[in-house]
Amino acid sequence: MAYQTITIEIEDYVALIRLNRPEALNALNSQLMGELADALTEADRNEKVRCIVLTGSEKAFAAGADIKEMAEKTFVEVYNDNIFGAEIDRITATRKPIIAAVSGYALGGGCELAMACDFIICSDNAKFGQPEINLGVIAGIGGTQRLTRFVGKSKSMDMHLTGRFMDAAEAERSGLVSRVVPAAKLIPEVLTVAKKIAEKSQIAAIAAKEAVNRAYETTLNEGILFERRSFQALFATDDQKEGMAAFLEKREAQFRDR
Ligand code: CAA
Repeated sequence: MAYQTITIEIEDYVALIRLNRPEALNALNSQLMGELADALTEADRNEKVRCIVLTGSEKAFAAGADIKEMAEKTFVEVYNDNIFGAEIDRITATRKPIIAAVSGYALGGGCELAMACDFIICSDNAKFGQPEINLGVIAGIGGTQRLTRFVGKSKSMDMHLTGRFMDAAEAERSGLVSRVVPAAKLIPEVLTVAKKIAEKSQIAAIAAKEAVNRAYETTLNEGILFERRSFQALFATDDQKEGMAAFLEKREAQFRDR
C-alpha cells in the first residue's frame, strides 16, 4: 500500500517504519495515525516481518498530536471522532514486537506513541515530555496511564503538571527507555536488536509480549497464572523441542514458528 505520511522498508525480517511529516516535526494527524495503524496491521500479517521498528527523524520522533488539526475542534467533534482512540488501540493490538527508536522530541502524543510500543531505545539527544498542560488540555492517548506505570506517580505528575521535558539520561534512569545510544548510531543499533528478536521463535516472542503486557492489566497472581499457562503451552510447539535440543547439541536453533 502507498502511504504519504510514513515510509516502510522491510529487510532481514524487520520492518522499519518512519513517521514522515518533517514539516510538522512528525506531528500526529488523522492521516498519519490511520496510515500507521494500517501499516502495523499489514506488518502483523506479513510473513516477511518478525519485528517492527518505529522511528521518526533525527530532530523529532513526533512532537505530539497535530495542534493545527485540533485547535478549532469542538467537544462533540473530538468525542465523535474519538480522536486517535481507535488508531492507538489498533497499534497496541499489534502482536509482533515493536521497538520505538526515539531521536529528538517525543512529546505529547509522540511520547504516548513511543510508550505504546513494546520498548523504547533512544538516542542521547532524545527529549520526552507531556506538555499538553501548556495547551490547556491533558494527554489524550494514554500518557497519564502509561507514563505513570513507567516512571511512577511522582515523576509522572511532575511531567504532566509542569509540562517539562525529560532528557535521555533521566529517561533511562527512571525506566522509560531500555537503552540510550549515540544519536548517529540509533537506527543501526535498534535494527541489530530487532534482527536479534526476529531470529527467535515468533510464537515464543508473541507469548513473551502478551505475558509482559499482562503485568499491566491484572493482579500478580492472575499474571503469574497466565505466564505459567503460556509457558506450558509452548511445550506443544516444535520450536520448544528445537530450542532445547539445539542447546543440548551446542548448536544454533533453527526456529520454524510451529
Ligand atoms: N502540531 C502541529 N505542528 C507542530 C507541532 C504539533 N504538535 N509541533 C511542531 N509543529 C510545527 C510547528 O508549528 C512548525 O511549523 P511552521 O514552521 O509551519 O510554523 C514546525 O513544526 C517546526 O516547529 P518549531 O518551529 O516550533 O520548532 P522548534 O525547534 O522551535 O520547537 C518543539 C520544537 C519544542 C517540539 C515545538 O515545536 C513544540 O513545542 N511543539 C509542540 C509540542 C506539544 O505541545 N505537543 C503536544 C501536542 S497535544 C497532544 O499531543 C495531545 C495528545 O496527547 C493526543
